[in-house]
Formats: sequence, structure tokens, C-alpha cells
Amino acid sequence: MHLNDREKAMLDGAEGPARQRAMDLLVRYGSALGAERLIAVTNVAGTWSSTTPWVQADLDAPDDFDTIFSRFNLDSDDTVETPQAVVSTCQLIHGIDTRNHALQGFSREKAELQRKSEEFFGRRGVQWASTCTPYQVGNVPVKGEHLAWMESSAVVYANAVLGARTNVEGRESTGAASITGLIPDFGLHITENRLATHRVRVEATPETMMDWGLLGYAVGEMVMDDIPLLSGAIPQPRPMHLKHFGAAAASSGGVEMYHIPGVTAEASSEEEALGGRAPREERVYDAAARRRAFEHINAQASNRSVDFVMLGCPHNSIEQMWQIATLLDGRKISPDVALWVHTPRQIRTLCDDCGYTAVIERAGGHVMSDSCPAINRATPPGTNVIATDSCKQAHYLPAITGKQTWFGSLDHCIDAAMTGRWNGDL
Ligand code: F3S
Repeated sequence: MHLNDREKAMLDGAEGPARQRAMDLLVRYGSALGAERLIAVTNVAGTWSSTTPWVQADLDAPDDFDTIFSRFNLDSDDTVETPQAVVSTCQLIHGIDTRNHALQGFSREKAELQRKSEEFFGRRGVQWASTCTPYQVGNVPVKGEHLAWMESSAVVYANAVLGARTNVEGRESTGAASITGLIPDFGLHITENRLATHRVRVEATPETMMDWGLLGYAVGEMVMDDIPLLSGAIPQPRPMHLKHFGAAAASSGGVEMYHIPGVTAEASSEEEALGGRAPREERVYDAAARRRAFEHINAQASNRSVDFVMLGCPHNSIEQMWQIATLLDGRKISPDVALWVHTPRQIRTLCDDCGYTAVIERAGGHVMSDSCPAINRATPPGTNVIATDSCKQAHYLPAITGKQTWFGSLDHCIDAAMTGRWNGDL
């Protein structure tokens, strides 16, 4: 890999031991991928906190944050002092909602540990967005900007909708990128790798949130980690539609980039999306494909007695929170069901001010932030059967929690919260 003089000096330790280890990590990582050089990034989104269960399980001293940073963010066996970030850096989702730690089954001590880690890394430049949707709370990169982001649903949104450039990075590479401002130049940083490889003709027009999720889930299964171009009569989406589409496509497949000509950032026509080439494969998304996706997601569920409804994956926008508050206003959920609605902490503050939090709580629900059951493995005590409006959450929860999980529309989920029964269908 070619390094410039400053990069070579960093690798030799001229800018301290942490940056030396970060450069060593980036060079090993880039070489393994065949990258010829490093490129500058201006925006990093990763994770620094120590309260996810798998990090906690591997720690002797849970508040030794330099050791946590060295081991988990720099892949270093020896402990080095954590330096300042050199580019804009934010925390994605993490382990505990400090406001609702008791509901999630975490002790006051664990919540305190979370706060201490926020203080420690905050002083070193990490911004506590604490959400899988940093683009919903002010971190909105522009077209062409090179990033180092973790979290598949955020990456596909940044690439496709915003036209920024990032691969799906890991905790280690984002840690190294935050203190060097560098990442290996490969994959979606390179223009020709962003062109569509597959064309999917959309005949079952997506209209609702559930439709966009199902379309994403089906397209992910069709193309896996290749790049789809959606063609056909596609109505004007809202940001939340594309958020659900991308999260679903990144879950059932590994989609990190897609094109909807005239809608997404990098193609105004099919020719532009394909770069003048013919697609490698042509696929069709029709009513049968829509039904197959719905049945596939729900194949692991059979018990219709729902006791936990999870909304907000990826984290809800303020518009979605308003919709939920509207549906719950003046109603009460079943005493046998728990309802958790997830949104970024910044949007929860907005919900507090708008009165949405109070409406949801009066109905018997809770507004949660900072994490989700797929990340912190927390579900209400006694949970056996889950319902969610998210393809992504329904895809992962059965394996992570061992609980049956139904997927359906927001209306299906609110009905399940009211009745304790799953009546969802297409
Ligand atoms: Fe976010 Fe958790 Fe879903 S991280 S995208 S709410 S699985």
C-alpha cells in the first residue's frame, strides 16, 4: 500500500502510540482488501461505549476506558492513551438507555458506567448521537463526501440517498479513522464500484411503510451484496420509506448502495445508474414476490399471543413518533403487552416538548432511546412473542433473543398492543 510521508511518520509513531496503532490497523486492513492507498474521511460514525453485553463480557475493569479504546477500537493488546478525534466523530447505537435502564433490566451502576463513558469519550471529541440514524439528528453528509460509518442501515442511507461514500466499517476501523482521518480506499469509495449491477422491475408499487420494507427485504434477497437499480412505477418516497427500504435490503442481503433514478443521489436515469452497461441480471418484484417476502419474514412465528410490541427500527423519525402518538391518543394498550417505541434521544426530547411522549406513556407504552433489543438483547420480563413493524428487527430478533417475532404494518402492531393478538396479514 502506498503511504505518503505523513502517513509513514504516523506509522512510525511520530504522532503518538495510539495513532501508530491506528495506522498499523488501517494498513493491515487495507492490505487485506487490496487497497492501494488511504483516503481522507471527514465524518466517522462508530461505537466507543462499553455497555453492550459482548463488550462487558470481555472486560476486567469496565471503566478503564483507555483499555476499552485500545482493545476494541484499535485492536491493540497493550493499553495506550486515547487521543482526540481529528474529524467529526459520532457514536451510533449502544447498550443502555440511561433514562429507562430499569425497564431494560440494567442496574443503576451500569447506567452510571454508560454516563461515565460518555463523559470520557465526549471529552475526546465523540459526539453522542447514540442512534443508528445519525442522519435524522443533524449528521447529514453531502454528496461525494468520504465517510467511515458502521451500521448497515445508516451506510446504505448515506450512500444511496445522500450520495456520500462509505463501506460498512467496524468498531476497529472507525476507531482508527477517528484519530487519523483516514480509511482504506476500496469498495464504495471508488466511483465505478457504485454503479448498478442488477435491475429490479417493480410491479407491486410500494405505498405504505410496510410495502417499502417488504420491497427492501425482497430486493436484498434477490441481489445479496450487489447494487440494485429499481425501475418501474415507483411513487415519490418519504425519507422514512427509504430508511426502511435500505435497512431491510441490508438485512436480507448485504445491500450497501442502490439507485432509484430521479430519487436517489447518483442517477437521474437508468443509463446513468448502470454506467452505460447492461445489468448483469434482471429481476421482477411483483405481488407474488411481495407475498413471498412477507411469508418468509414471518415463517418463524406461529404463536399469535403477542406480549411485546417493538417499534422504531431503524430509530423512528419525529414524523413516525407523531403518527404513533396519534394512533395511541386516548387509548390503552393491553395490560398483558409491553410497548417500546424507539427513537433517537434528540427526537425523544422533541417528543417530550410536543407531548407525544406523554400520549404514548398514558396509553401504557414507553419511549426508548440509545439502543434496541437487537443490540442490547433487552426485552421486557416474560416476553415470549414479539411484534414489530421493522423487517430488520424481525429478521434478527428470533436468532438474537430466541423469541418468535411477527412482522407487519404499524396498524397491525398497534392492534397487537391493544389486544395481545397478532392479526397481521397482507
Ligand atoms: Fe437501529 Fe437496532 Fe434496528 S441498531 S437499525 S434499531 S436493529
